[in-house]
Amino acid sequence: MTGLGQPYGGTLIDLLATGASREDIGREAATLPSIEMDSRHTSDFELLVNGGFSPLDGFMGEADYRSVVDKMTLANGLPWPVPVTLAVSEPEAARLATGGRAALRDDSGFVLGVIDITEIYKRDKKEEAKKVYRTDDEAHPGVAAMYAGGDTIVAGKVTALSLPSHDGMAERRLTPAQTRAEFGKLGWKTVVGFQTRNPIHRAHEYLIKVALEGLDGALIHPLVGDTKDDDIPAEVRMRCYEVLIENYFVGERVVLSVLPAAMRYAGPREAIFHAIMRKNYGCTHFIVGRDHAGVGNYYGTYDAQLIFNEVDRAALGIEPLFFEHAFWCLRTGAMATAKTSPSTPEERVFLSGTKVREMLAAGERPPVEFTRPEVADVLIGSMRAAAT
Ligand code: ADX
Repeated sequence: MTGLGQPYGGTLIDLLATGASREDIGREAATLPSIEMDSRHTSDFELLVNGGFSPLDGFMGEADYRSVVDKMTLANGLPWPVPVTLAVSEPEAARLATGGRAALRDDSGFVLGVIDITEIYKRDKKEEAKKVYRTDDEAHPGVAAMYAGGDTIVAGKVTALSLPSHDGMAERRLTPAQTRAEFGKLGWKTVVGFQTRNPIHRAHEYLIKVALEGLDGALIHPLVGDTKDDDIPAEVRMRCYEVLIENYFVGERVVLSVLPAAMRYAGPREAIFHAIMRKNYGCTHFIVGRDHAGVGNYYGTYDAQLIFNEVDRAALGIEPLFFEHAFWCLRTGAMATAKTSPSTPEERVFLSGTKVREMLAAGERPPVEFTRPEVADVLIGSMRAAAT
């Protein structure tokens, strides 16, 4: 069990090699067989290395993998909802051996680290899809991404030469150790984490502010790894978060930083996964609203909340804060949910994502009850730029 605020499993993992050992590994890596990681694996690598996946210190072996898929726990019983595995191609697998080492390269061939191979095993993708994603439909973007990978999994401890490099947003890429240090400087004891893969609309702002009323601070923590092609690019979203915080939040109560994870769109299981990562980043509480990490109609509106009843909450050590569907309420003239306003459905301002995109593409601001004008202008500007 790990208490509120402590890293998951008790210790914040750091897999970056330093000093002489880093130089030795760098030299050795050039002589080893290679595994080329795609962008999703590279995201997982980054979170293993920076401690976002603590207590994991490498890609999962078969006992953990099986237990995670079947029971949502690591083999030692600690709740863990989603496999963190390294799938390799058949030609790569043919050059690897248990007990050996391999160099881990990004998709440009740059060596990021090494893996001490403890196991090589096969995964059952269909079963993984059904249990983790609750569907084996290839139209599901997370299932499709998983199916695109190989069947052979390489497991073992990772040692990193460096974190993956990224274009831009360098000052927003705080590691778990850095967000923790920042919260310490700000004197925060309780921190709510907010996951998002979308531009911030009024409903998001409302959830964060309601949570903030009872806590010391908020970590607005957009996910910036791979998302679906039709999700808004991370740099544009980042400008939305910045103008929103500048104009509508109290600066000393918010930290804005990014989560390098890829979206799996695994809905309920991913909600727990998101919470565990935010615990490692130093959050004590985590917002789970409507259809968290969902896509299409694969999950029920509140499935991502109900699943928390299936895990050992004490072992999880981060408090989920559940929210019903939030909307602008014409009757009360405020943001509300069905718990806080007696409004009729006609009195609730609702816009579909498609409608909002159409308005923005036409250069029209959505109603202020839905999107702050400064945020709308960032989105309109980015659509204009993309169209020219
Ligand atoms: S997600 O894939 O990251 O979950 P999104 O960025 O849209 O997608 O949502 C971020 C968080 O806000 C999630 O916890 C989600 O459940 C919540 N959320 C989004 N819109 C609403 C809403 N209208 N009412 C309640 N919760 C919401």
